[in-house]
Amino acid sequence: MRDRVSSFRVISRHLRFLALFTFWLGILFLCGFFHMNINFIPVWKGFTFYQEPCHPRTNIMFLKTHKTASSTVMNILFRFTEKFNLTVALPAGRQFHLGYPDSFEAEFVEEFKTTGPSYNIMCNHLRFNLKEVRKVMPVNTTYFSILRNPVSLLESSYVYYKDYAPAFKKSRDVNEYLASPGIYYNKSESGYNIYAKNNMWFDFGYDNNAEDDENYTQSVLRMIEQDFHLILIADYFDESMVLLKNFLCWDLDDVVYFKLNSRSLNTIQSLTPENKEKVKDWCSLDWKLYQHFNKTFWRRIQENIGLKNLYREVNLLRKKQKQLMEKCLLDPVPVNETQIKDKLLKPFQSGDAHILGYNLKHNLDNETLRSCQKMITPELQYMSYLYALQYPDKKRKSINFPSWWS
Ligand SMILES: *[C@@H]1O[C@H](CO)[C@@H](O)[C@H](O)[C@H]1NC(C)=O
Ligand SMILES: *[C@@H]1O[C@H](CO)[C@@H](O)[C@H](O)[C@H]1NC(C)=O
Ligand SMILES: *[C@@H]1O[C@H](CO)[C@@H](O)[C@H](O)[C@H]1NC(C)=O
Ligand SMILES: *[C@@H]1O[C@H](CO)[C@@H](O)[C@H](O)[C@H]1NC(C)=O
Ligand SMILES: *[C@@H]1O[C@H](CO)[C@@H](O)[C@H](O)[C@H]1NC(C)=O
Ligand SMILES: *[C@@H]1O[C@H](CO)[C@@H](O)[C@H](O)[C@H]1NC(C)=O
Ligand SMILES: *[C@@H]1O[C@H](CO)[C@@H](O)[C@H](O)[C@H]1NC(C)=O
Repeated sequence: MRDRVSSFRVISRHLRFLALFTFWLGILFLCGFFHMNINFIPVWKGFTFYQEPCHPRTNIMFLKTHKTASSTVMNILFRFTEKFNLTVALPAGRQFHLGYPDSFEAEFVEEFKTTGPSYNIMCNHLRFNLKEVRKVMPVNTTYFSILRNPVSLLESSYVYYKDYAPAFKKSRDVNEYLASPGIYYNKSESGYNIYAKNNMWFDFGYDNNAEDDENYTQSVLRMIEQDFHLILIADYFDESMVLLKNFLCWDLDDVVYFKLNSRSLNTIQSLTPENKEKVKDWCSLDWKLYQHFNKTFWRRIQENIGLKNLYREVNLLRKKQKQLMEKCLLDPVPVNETQIKDKLLKPFQSGDAHILGYNLKHNLDNETLRSCQKMITPELQYMSYLYALQYPDKKRKSINFPSWWS
């Protein structure tokens, strides 16, 4: 008797659940019938198994800023390019940059003059110029970029561009430079002093020597907000990758990465507390840029993902990254250039920075080797490979890519 009562209870619970389920399903169909955008109906927010259908975005312009983990983002974009057989707007004549530091022009892109706009991805260094970028990229392109805290950015630039920026060359170390930057920095001097003051501001196409006038600064921030759909923050790189992947409707696997172009710790110079403060003043345009978009970044996360979901996905990303590292890499951390056995996988070296790289495990099967290798291929070699893929008839340049690729 008791058994029958309890089984009846179970059945009625099932029936109630079924009724509720049918009710929601009915509403779902009605919404479809009236072409409603379900996203705007708050009741659906807690409805876990409904996911807004979206298609991966494949037309993408990434403004690659300097010393902001952007090489790692570029590797992600290159691998995505291959996954979907996309076309990259590579620099014409096998240059490494799209005309940087000159303001971007459409003709800086390989084959643009002959074939016109037929590209999906643009991600090489360039100085942003929307009017010209629009000539090259499709109308439904997603524009995004990445910023980094100007304090650590300036230290990184100093070491990396020590030989390029006259202001850096003249000073002994970054603390000496920041103690009195006015002594070393001459904005009219030829060379690459753009790295020595408000370099991000410059990359976005604006004057890095402009007066920090509130009206001007605010108007530039508004223009950047209009031109870019998303601004990521390098200091929260994993959070940025989760936000990016959600925004572009990609898989989490598409944004799993190994850190590229990082420096050996012994080349990091530590700034004195006073000089840390000084950067905010010396690079005040960049400081305002960073603060503004750090705020919009976190607001975006709160509004679109929520912190709980964000960290769930960040943890998943880190787990996947760890698994891949164990599968692919010989050493658990990046190694010095001299320790990299495959010459073709050595990263480009610059200034006083020792740029690190990776060694792969031996005896990986061909398919694993291929995918692991792509994750650690430095940008110049990867570009060279994509160039050969897109333009098979053109002659190869001296920089080569791993032979098994051809
Ligand atoms: C963008 O436009 C192209 C045609 O120009 C179309 O094939 C593609 O599906 C569109 N992509 C998105 C994400 O809307
Ligand atoms: C990309 O091209 C390869 C070879 O032509 C093909 O096998 C693959 O299905 C294509 N992938 C996509 C996503 O179009
Ligand atoms: C700055 O550089 C310009 C161009 O080289 C030069 O004419 C000028 O004298 C320099 N100014 C200072 C203060 O050194
Ligand atoms: C900023 O703009 C306001 C209103 O347009 C104007 O009154 C003010 O003088 C401007 N400030 C500066 C420093 O240009
Ligand atoms: C960036 O935003 C986070 C979250 O609001 C905050 O904790 C952090 O202090 C901000 N960074 C700067 C440099 O303002
Ligand atoms: C790289 O080499 C430098 C000295 O040249 C050494 O101090 C540093 O520990 C090495 N880094 C790694 C990751 O091996
Ligand atoms: C793996 O690649 C090597 C070199 O390209 C080739 O000789 C070998 O046959 C490949 N093995 C398999 C199982 O495809």
